[in-house]
Amino acid sequence: PIAAVVLAGGTGTRLYPAARSDRPKQFLSFGDEQSMLEATVERAGFADEVYVLTRPAFRDDVTELVPSVTVLTEPEPKDTGPALAYATHRVREDLGPCVVLALPSDHHVEGDFESTARRACRVATDTGRLVTIGIEPDRPATGYGYVEPGADRGAYYEVESFTEKPDRERAKRYLEDGYYWNSGTFAWTPESFLDAAADTELGPLVSALEEDSPETGYRAVPSVSVDYAVMESASGIAVVPADYEWDDLGTWDALERVLDADADGNAVLGEYLALDASNNVIASDGHVSAIGVEDLVIATFDDRTLVVDQSDVQRVRDVVDQLRTDG
Ligand code: GDD
Ligand code: MG
Repeated sequence: PIAAVVLAGGTGTRLYPAARSDRPKQFLSFGDEQSMLEATVERAGFADEVYVLTRPAFRDDVTELVPSVTVLTEPEPKDTGPALAYATHRVREDLGPCVVLALPSDHHVEGDFESTARRACRVATDTGRLVTIGIEPDRPATGYGYVEPGADRGAYYEVESFTEKPDRERAKRYLEDGYYWNSGTFAWTPESFLDAAADTELGPLVSALEEDSPETGYRAVPSVSVDYAVMESASGIAVVPADYEWDDLGTWDALERVLDADADGNAVLGEYLALDASNNVIASDGHVSAIGVEDLVIATFDDRTLVVDQSDVQRVRDVVDQLRTDG
């Protein structure tokens, strides 16, 4: 069987101030009627089982939004590395032999997700490889992982290298050299993934899970994404190119790509007035006026305002870290 695991335990720091620790990004909707979480669960609907992995504090919100799924909660939020080791282990206990399809809950997808996802699952089962669904890049984005395709095996490419969040110079080179973006949507059998994870800094968690002590395991590992922890070092990865339109909605600049813009290229959520202002992302729960500015993100929610150049949206994370420290 195919077990979809939807990751919904992050808070969406880079979408501050719309996303806050008590209102994480996966529960937001951004112009659609559905929240990103609902859209993700719907997209995963062809799977035999759908799990959502979140933190205990979000359990009730998840159950209310998507009542049909099995909700798993993890001992601590420690990024996607521990989260996927934990979920993969739980799913194997539940279902026995199966294939895990891991889905982030901050993506915008248009088109036939199911065909590509089924192909990725088939490759994972047939070859025992860790499989990522790859997206053809159209810009040197620095917020994504890059996958270097090697030998063409028909249903997939072998992967020569995986590089998470490269700097701008390397991203430009990868774009020219025909790399794919890692969509963060993965397929693997529990054995393949847990074996690969056992050889990494997630090793102590994998052993603790086998001994049925997840809390101890979580304490023993760092906060680290699956990309850095496993995908960069694992051997025998496969990439299956996506047959659908894709975007990650986890940063403010993405809204410019998914919302209809006004005549001056401003992508707007909420009320606003723009005079000689172009190509901005303006989002608020009130009213924003902008004069003579371009390429900015202006976001204001709950009496908190963020103004950032669109080229710096990954750094919104730093603002939130600092606000947390300073209180
Ligand atoms: N359960 C759980 N626990 N979920 C988490 C946690 C956690 O501790 N941390 C993050 N998540 C969820 C987020 O809610 C999101 O849906 C997903 O995991 C991915 O996390 P992001 O923080 O959005 O990752 P990213 O966008 O920076 O990078 C990843 O996705 C890119 C494509 O969208 C990487 O896989 C990149 O390589 C990839 O290109
Ligand atoms: Mg993301």
